[in-house]
Amino acid sequence: MKFSVLTLFPEMIHQTLSYSILGRAIGNGVLTVDAVDIRDFAGNKHNRVDDYPYGGGCGMVMQPQPVFDAFSSLSIRPGTKVIYLTPQGKPFCQKMAEEFAKEEELVLLCGHYEGIDERVLEEIVTDEVSLGDFVLTGGELAAIAVIDAVGRLVPGVLGKEESAEEESFAGNALEYPQYTRPPVFHGKEVPPVLLSGHHQKIAQWRRMQSLIRTYHKRPDLYAKIELTAKEKQNMEEYIKDLHQTKEEE
Ligand code: ADE
Repeated sequence: MKFSVLTLFPEMIHQTLSYSILGRAIGNGVLTVDAVDIRDFAGNKHNRVDDYPYGGGCGMVMQPQPVFDAFSSLSIRPGTKVIYLTPQGKPFCQKMAEEFAKEEELVLLCGHYEGIDERVLEEIVTDEVSLGDFVLTGGELAAIAVIDAVGRLVPGVLGKEESAEEESFAGNALEYPQYTRPPVFHGKEVPPVLLSGHHQKIAQWRRMQSLIRTYHKRPDLYAKIELTAKEKQNMEEYIKDLHQTKEEE
């Protein structure tokens, strides 16, 4: 899969994605990341790409021409999604990452300063995506997060050991707690079931832990989980016990 990033800071993209799993996938060609420097398309001797906003106000606005020319320099197929990273966009989520991972190619547009001239956005952008309700200094960190979350879903990016199948948000449940050696740390033991070698019991325990965690940490996600009759019963018992314990305290 290919990601083309339109940015004022191409090094930030390449550097950050050069580590670990994504770095390996880029190294072996499963993923391609092409960062295009919008400044190369400034078209003036001072390499300026921003100007004062019409109508006044503070900050600078990225001019439309360099952004359009940087975009036009890409050789992309018609229909390729062009994602503008902005706090005004649709909140990014796992489902969106799964949809994007089906594409062969994505273009990510990173803004800076007070934003990008609206006219070029109207012309080239197909999707607006936000990382959350906060303001970053530029779109690069958001683009990197999107590339990471989408890229790891592309077949061949994760190794067998790093499988994406059983993890947070698969079916809306959060992941169960994990333990490794030593068996006792600061006086705390690893839950004995995990040392039992009983695969079915371990799987049941992990599923219950997932449900319990989601119930406490993300009630909004818990409400969307499709529980089996047995799981529903187990959770009802857990919640009843919880209230009883609270009353006794
Ligand atoms: N650019 C600036 N803030 C952002 C955010 N929260 N999400 C995506 N892109 C952004």
